[in-house]
Amino acid sequence: MSKKEISLTLFPYLLHPRNTVLVTTVSRDGKPNVLAVAWITPISVNPPYLGISVKPGRYSHKLLLETGEFVVNVPTFDLAKEVTICGRKSGRQIDKFKEAGLTVEKAEIVKAPIIKECVAHLECKVANRLKVGDHDFFIGQVLAAYVSEEHFKDLYDVKKHKTLLHIGKNKFTTTQDTYKEIKI
Ligand SMILES: Cc1cc2nc3c(=O)[nH]c(=O)nc-3n(C[C@H](O)[C@H](O)[C@H](O)COP(=O)(O)O)c2cc1C
Repeated sequence: MSKKEISLTLFPYLLHPRNTVLVTTVSRDGKPNVLAVAWITPISVNPPYLGISVKPGRYSHKLLLETGEFVVNVPTFDLAKEVTICGRKSGRQIDKFKEAGLTVEKAEIVKAPIIKECVAHLECKVANRLKVGDHDFFIGQVLAAYVSEEHFKDLYDVKKHKTLLHIGKNKFTTTQDTYKEIKI
């Protein structure tokens, strides 16, 4: 295997393809917004925490600070175009739900909405924010989590659930129907 040095500005793409989600937020006066987020990670199970890396300057960053709540909505591969719209346009200028044809519905606990077309939803409250380089890492306490029964039993059914994986730029891929179960 011959290996080449790459620019450090490209380092994140060595860690892609990554599960990409739609993060919904809401302003103080009740106006919702959504952005695409590929830099998301579970952090703790008990108590439940996850982290999202969001760049200052994004409208969603302002809303995360303003109301301190968000929902992680898990889209499927067939929503790649909608996710690209949410990840390339800003809610400062337009209503991205309308632009992308996504439907907002009331969440169980938080004021930020859920997106009906997504298969899973994790409602979160901002618990902390770490300023790291050119992004802020928002730590969210997960208050509620629910998922389509068709897609998830105790794990995702990869035959039914086609995960949206971001390769980089506007390119996406998904998982296969097959899996290996390793016994050791
Ligand atoms: C596939 C994809 C993944 C993205 N992941 C992130 C991310 O993890 N963090 C981030 O700050 N921006 C990310 N972005 C960029 C934001 O989604 C984008 O800047 C968006 O337009 C911000 O919208 P807003 O101004 O309405 O908040 C991503 C964009 C795309 C297309």
